[in-house]
Amino acid sequence: MIDAASDRRPAPAGIGRGRARQCAWLGADGAQAQAGGVCEPGGWHEQGAGAGGALHHPGKDVSVCMERGISCKSLATGTCVRVDGTWRGSPGREQAAELAADRVSVLGACASEYAVQKKYHTPEFLRTIPHLRIASRGMPRVLQLRSQLTRLVQEFFTQEEFCQVQAPVITPSDCEGAGEAFGVTSTQEGASSKELFFGRPAYLTVSTQLHLEALAQGVARVWTMSPAFRAEKSQTNRHLAEFTMVEAEAAFVEDVEELMDLVERLVRYVLSKADLPLAHISQHRWPRVSYTDAVDMLAAEPAWTQPVVWGKALASEHEQWLCKRFNGPVFIFNYPRACKPFYMKSNDNAPERETVACFDFLADGLELAGGSLREHRHEQLCASLEAHGIQQLGWYVDLRRFGCPPHGGFGLGFDRLVQWLVGGHIKDVVPFPRSHNSLSL
Ligand code: 4AD
Ligand code: MG
Repeated sequence: MIDAASDRRPAPAGIGRGRARQCAWLGADGAQAQAGGVCEPGGWHEQGAGAGGALHHPGKDVSVCMERGISCKSLATGTCVRVDGTWRGSPGREQAAELAADRVSVLGACASEYAVQKKYHTPEFLRTIPHLRIASRGMPRVLQLRSQLTRLVQEFFTQEEFCQVQAPVITPSDCEGAGEAFGVTSTQEGASSKELFFGRPAYLTVSTQLHLEALAQGVARVWTMSPAFRAEKSQTNRHLAEFTMVEAEAAFVEDVEELMDLVERLVRYVLSKADLPLAHISQHRWPRVSYTDAVDMLAAEPAWTQPVVWGKALASEHEQWLCKRFNGPVFIFNYPRACKPFYMKSNDNAPERETVACFDFLADGLELAGGSLREHRHEQLCASLEAHGIQQLGWYVDLRRFGCPPHGGFGLGFDRLVQWLVGGHIKDVVPFPRSHNSLSL
């Protein structure tokens, strides 16, 4: 696991006297430093004991040796510098080359009250300076991991012949019907609906699912990676008011197992290709446990803070226990209708124990993904909307009238995926996190 947020970057290997913060660029040959090559790397100086230094380039650390009496001792930590020099073989074991510096030019001075000093900083402290946190040790790595995972997710869906689409962020409805949507207003509008910018109330999307369902009715397999917004007041280590979700929707899917297979293939693909020192991931298919069986297992255990009752959502303590019990990620499927949204397809079982064809994918007690078959039958969808008191989704109902295939999909919390891989708080894997009472820049 990489160190997400807490400390500065690792001390570079080799001749680690003075240091420079991250390199801005490394000359034409910088990415593959060769002994003898000439370059002009840019970076930020970090106060050190001697006259030498080290530049950190994304993905690699570079030692710098000062030649001919040059010293960067007087430079404050955080000073932006350019170093002119030549690559040469390094005595350090962890790198092939080091930079012999002929000249250090100051590109940007750094004031003495600079908060990110060369010492341990707690994640909590770093969260108070989000505009400077990128200078800490973990955040550049987190951003690179996010970038790599984004590429891998795209690669996966391309291989699986899904079409990448863009869905709207402003919508006229709260997709989940959970009442957690943020309203969108223009700064000029008044209270009457005539003055509303869109002529009707508008919201920030909580999920692109409903729009993906419409598109899957023509393209069959679609996916997107989109911001999602939820006005949840929860102050947990896994909830944000704005987060990124990977969502996929596929037509002609009739079994929720196919959706779990898809999520498992996606997560395994990403894990196998990402540049991460991961613990061993078992090659066995991750366990799939029905909600009813999970509740039976939980009920056999003593002393829960939250009661275990069939028909109620699982609490975080229950999800954590299930992950420990199965010693890894686990799918829980077929939840009771009462604790899931209106669009999930009914399993048509006994009304007193009615379940829907859905699943949650849990890892280390975190819900990483949730998905379901969608109620594609017109009559059943209308009944479900009525039962939930939802009136405004005429277009969504309409889809069921015009050749609607059985279909299903899922949403994977991208930030939670990163959090799972990195550890710690979700706010430390998002550069500018937004949450209840917290919006500093
Ligand atoms: O389980 P959720 O609410 O599912 C949906 O929104 C479906 N409409 C998705 C779909 O089927 N297309 O959210 C999906 C995932 C969760 O499993 C979780 O990982 C993440 O999104 N998530 C959050 N991540 C961070 N902060 C929050 N407030 C989150 N809420 C959900
Ligand atoms: Mg969910």
